[in-house]
Amino acid sequence: MEKETIKILQELCKELKINIESLSYGWIYKLSKNNKIRYITGNFDINKTASSKIASDKYATFEVLKSENIPVIKHTMVFNPIDRKDYIKEEEVWKIVNKEFEKEGKIVVKPNYGFEGKGVFLCNTIYEAKEAVKYLLEKNTSISICPFYDIKKEYRAFYLNGKILLIYEKEKPYAIGNGKDNVKTLVERLNLPDNEVVKNNLSKIDMDYVPKLDEKIELSWKHNLYGGATAKVINKENENYKKVEDLAIKAGKALDMTFATIDIIKTLNNQLYVLEINSGVATSIFSEIVENGKELTKEIYTKALIEIFK
Ligand SMILES: Nc1ncnc2c1ncn2[C@@H]1O[C@H](COP(=O)(O)OP(=O)(O)O)[C@@H](O)[C@H]1O
Ligand SMILES: [Mg+2]
Repeated sequence: MEKETIKILQELCKELKINIESLSYGWIYKLSKNNKIRYITGNFDINKTASSKIASDKYATFEVLKSENIPVIKHTMVFNPIDRKDYIKEEEVWKIVNKEFEKEGKIVVKPNYGFEGKGVFLCNTIYEAKEAVKYLLEKNTSISICPFYDIKKEYRAFYLNGKILLIYEKEKPYAIGNGKDNVKTLVERLNLPDNEVVKNNLSKIDMDYVPKLDEKIELSWKHNLYGGATAKVINKENENYKKVEDLAIKAGKALDMTFATIDIIKTLNNQLYVLEINSGVATSIFSEIVENGKELTKEIYTKALIEIFK
């Protein structure tokens, strides 16, 4: 679990008179109160095992949501022909890649067990698609190919037992030109997270270019906070709140989740689709970059803790 999350959890347990103990090198948090014991592992994961497993697999999530007629971005499975030879033969991999690329024109390739935007590639050419698939199959048992969706807005909804506690919208990281400084200087002022995903995104951008006044330079095509995207909490008056809330509740129920975050995209033609569901509720970057983020995180975790001890 992230350090910040542990701190918040410890504070909340004190307030709620829950005894908390760290076991197995911090992997497990054992919570006890009134002779009841509850465990938290990873990023505040309190779900049923099957639900957690489905959510952690993007392709499985797609099939489960589709089986309930819930709008979800399309996934095509590509098994690794070495680890999963009963399901696929090597030559079939390239047939699937060719077919999907020809059909969609632009595809996204990603590991089924990925997170934080790691290993999620946008492929504009069949060459890029094949390179990405080859790279991902070196390390993954299965990957998914998705059509590229033109995303106007991406949302994250916090789900607890059939209710939505909070929704925020994400914006991709960008720099705004002032007509004087180059991209490198503008980016330095943004204080982006210091990690490989950000470095990789920036490596594709011309850092010496001097953008014109108010020119917007996109720094990534992905909406991961880990990759420098920003978050803004939306309230019930927001025109999309109700629609996102309704879809997130349906998706959460379809996977039989207890506590989760549900990511939803709105495309340029105003269609909503579920992108992915996370069974571990991670808030460390959110609580840092959003006004009152820590308080909002505490409210969410308090409700989750009360729920599990009910
Ligand atoms: N099919 C797609 N079309 C357009 N953008 C996508 C697509 N799939 C992923 N993305 C972008 O990449 C980001 C990361 O993808 P996601 O599937 O959420 O993986 P991760 O679990 O690593 O966050 C998303 O937030 C979204 O902005
Ligand atoms: Mg994601």
